[in-house]
Amino acid sequence: MKDNNNESKIVEVFTDVNAHRSTADIIRRHSTNQNDVREIAFEGLNLKQCRNILDLGCAFGFFTEALKGKVHPEAVVTGVDIIGNYEPLFLKACQRAGVKGSFRSSGVSVIKDFKDSSFDLILSSYSLYFFPEMIPDISRILNRDGLLLTISHDKHNMGELVRFAKDALGSNGMLKQDTKLPIEIFISRFSSENGREILSPWFEDIRVIDFKNSLFFQPDDISPLIKYFRFKCPFLLSETPTEARTIVKLFENYLQESFHYSRNGFKISKGDTIFVCSKPSYGRGAQ
Ligand SMILES: C[S@@+](CC[C@H](N)C(=O)[O-])C[C@H]1O[C@@H](n2cnc3c(N)ncnc32)[C@H](O)[C@@H]1O
Repeated sequence: MKDNNNESKIVEVFTDVNAHRSTADIIRRHSTNQNDVREIAFEGLNLKQCRNILDLGCAFGFFTEALKGKVHPEAVVTGVDIIGNYEPLFLKACQRAGVKGSFRSSGVSVIKDFKDSSFDLILSSYSLYFFPEMIPDISRILNRDGLLLTISHDKHNMGELVRFAKDALGSNGMLKQDTKLPIEIFISRFSSENGREILSPWFEDIRVIDFKNSLFFQPDDISPLIKYFRFKCPFLLSETPTEARTIVKLFENYLQESFHYSRNGFKISKGDTIFVCSKPSYGRGAQ
């Protein structure tokens, strides 16, 4: 996947703020693990001294919102996303969290301009696989006592949809064998499996917490599943909109048939891992 194609996929998926929000809602309602992944990430941490906070790939402030009551009363959270439309939603999430907010829509490369050791806490939920090349800078801008909390998926994420898309595209002559879909390429850049190894040159302490989960749709609950599939669709396709229309139709037919014949429902893998990273080692010769 070329870099500009890569960015256009991200913009294509996340530009529709309302669809992103309703997908987040579908995920919350259909998760087999009903614990809050953010609360598990914060467990046992004292964040009361954190004043200068950064949320990378913040979207509507999912991670930031969970800071309520946990950080310094004068904390300021800077949200960074490439989609400018998230700004008002992010700022509202800051209000609900009781922190001051600011938003940068120029993309994550803006952190190149931030001074060394300038943040006490950096958050990045389900976004670092879009920009793992920024990890050295994340280490650089985090202060020595600061923390990076990042959540990523495992390599089986959406495996059922990936298999379906590959079979459907392959049998319709739209995908060569062994071609990886965008979602596989993104997740392979920073996942549960390789996250520790990728982070370890840049942080001396890394704690890894597995968060097992899947999405489950009852046989009579087909509509949220189709919505979820539609939202994720550009990440399941290599190129054109014609493919998108074809594959969404094929998926809908497939689900209608299999739901009609099956009482088993539909499961989508969605296992996550939380990385709690401290002692940034940028510039300390550890790399
Ligand atoms: C899966 S969403 C996660 C959003 C949020 N952190 C959450 O947990 O709900 C990934 C976000 O990363 C953003 N993103 C992707 N590439 C980016 C980049 N280069 N710079 C800034 N944001 C980026 C997307 O626009 C999207 O809002």
